[in-house]
Amino acid sequence: METENFIKACKVAELKEGVGKRVYLDDEEIAIFKVDGEVYALNNTCPHQQARKIHEGFIEDHGVVCPLHGWKFDLTTGNVAPDRRGLKTYPVKIENGFVFVNVTKKELSW
Ligand code: FES
Repeated sequence: METENFIKACKVAELKEGVGKRVYLDDEEIAIFKVDGEVYALNNTCPHQQARKIHEGFIEDHGVVCPLHGWKFDLTTGNVAPDRRGLKTYPVKIENGFVFVNVTKKELSW
């Protein structure tokens, strides 16, 4: 089970439409994007070659494209293809003009 751990990431006003912002929250490196007025948070490390470059990606068809070799991740699910897992995504909420990201950790499996 995951617990809520919303952490303040940045001001909404700092985000430019379609341009990623890298933040470090609770030891996670996260890329934040604002696209069509919605804010998304994805893990910044591309699973292809572990490049921490997702924040430099560009937006195409509701996905972020890794700048290195073009893998594309859905902004909402992080998936590469409709059902292929790619990047971890994080719930986001906006309060008082700030973006908060729910930085959930992997739970110990047992
Ligand atoms: S490192 Fe992202 S596509 Fe290769």
